Amino acid sequence: MPRLAARTARIPPSPTMQVTATVDRLRRAGTEVIDFGAGEPDFPTPAPVKAAGRAAIDADFTKYTPASGLSELKRAITARYRADYGVDYAESEVVVTAGGKQALFNAALSLFGPGDEVVTHAPYWPTLPEQVKLADAAPVIVRTHAEEGFAIRAEPILAAITPRTRGIIVNSPCNPTGSLIAEAELAAIADLAAARGIWIVVDLCYEKLIYDEVPHNLPKVLADRCRDLAVLCGSASKAYAMTGWRCGWAIGPAPVIAAAGAIQSHATSNVSSITQKAAIEALTGSQAPVAAMLAEYRTRRDQLLAWLAEEPRLGCRRPAGAFYLFVDVGAVLSIDGFRTSADFARGLLEEARVAVTPGEAFDAPGFIRISYATSMDLLREGSSRLLAFVRAHADASRAGASR
Ligand SMILES: Cc1ncc(COP(=O)(O)O)c(C=O)c1O
Repeated sequence: MPRLAARTARIPPSPTMQVTATVDRLRRAGTEVIDFGAGEPDFPTPAPVKAAGRAAIDADFTKYTPASGLSELKRAITARYRADYGVDYAESEVVVTAGGKQALFNAALSLFGPGDEVVTHAPYWPTLPEQVKLADAAPVIVRTHAEEGFAIRAEPILAAITPRTRGIIVNSPCNPTGSLIAEAELAAIADLAAARGIWIVVDLCYEKLIYDEVPHNLPKVLADRCRDLAVLCGSASKAYAMTGWRCGWAIGPAPVIAAAGAIQSHATSNVSSITQKAAIEALTGSQAPVAAMLAEYRTRRDQLLAWLAEEPRLGCRRPAGAFYLFVDVGAVLSIDGFRTSADFARGLLEEARVAVTPGEAFDAPGFIRISYATSMDLLREGSSRLLAFVRAHADASRAGASR
């Protein structure tokens, strides 16, 4: 067989999706598993959004659309950002993409290339640095720290800038940590980016999932300071429980969006016409379902934290956004043969049938990510199995030590 392209050796498959694949395999084999790995809402897509999709099919709205998306949807996106953030964008500054993932990928391919460095923060959603590598550029990773609540701060990001830095990618709310970047920190990054001509890409896929009334108007901070350098990547996936529909968007300077649209026109063309009609309804219709889902996630977050607090060996922090607990299992790894958090996650799945994503997936060994986008009953059962698992191993290791 002739060899594969060199880039394939640089790109591993998505580790978060591997957890989903393992859970699927076990379930198909008849094994009951509690899945805390899934990075997607457990809620159904809101009824009016589903109805808009059905109406599109019934109206035979099933043909190609413009590759960069329907004008009506672009207007719905710009209207949403105007209402939510007070920023003004034109239709020519929006491309509709197959999820936030393609928005970010289009941005990486449009902005970065060989010899470029792109700074981002860890723990990270693994796709972000992999996309930079797919664009033949080099990710430069700056760490955020558990002791600081994984706050994304300007200072280390700015300190990582070199003459080769072409871009900075910020994800807030962050997957997996749930932390946010403060407006003032982003402002400091934006000012330097403006002075040095560095692109800023912001992954806002969890923008609707912020639990407290904290200032988080990142689009306005960027629009005021470096509008010509900023690309906002958003998604209907998490906000409207539409992960399978595949709809996201990139908003930014017209030349960047034109380039992103051209790339997409040769790669995937338009997002499904049906999905686009559904997304118009999601963005322009009542936002009450978003608020209801957020309230439910908040209740689950607080309850899950209360349950896990019973085990002092699990280090938990209250996340400000998204729907993940990023749990420090460092104290558990010293017991009973778990060398790594990947070992721990494997043991938890094999023995307790609870799937979590190991921190290694996010460049953060020593942690596990628990998704609370699942029902309260499953959270209760899964967290009780997790506690029992940790205790059983701690007891076994104590017994071993005393023998
Ligand atoms: C941080 C982050 N950004 C972007 C995405 C992309 O999601 P989608 O392509 O479904 O919009 C995800 C999905 O898990 C994510 O966690």
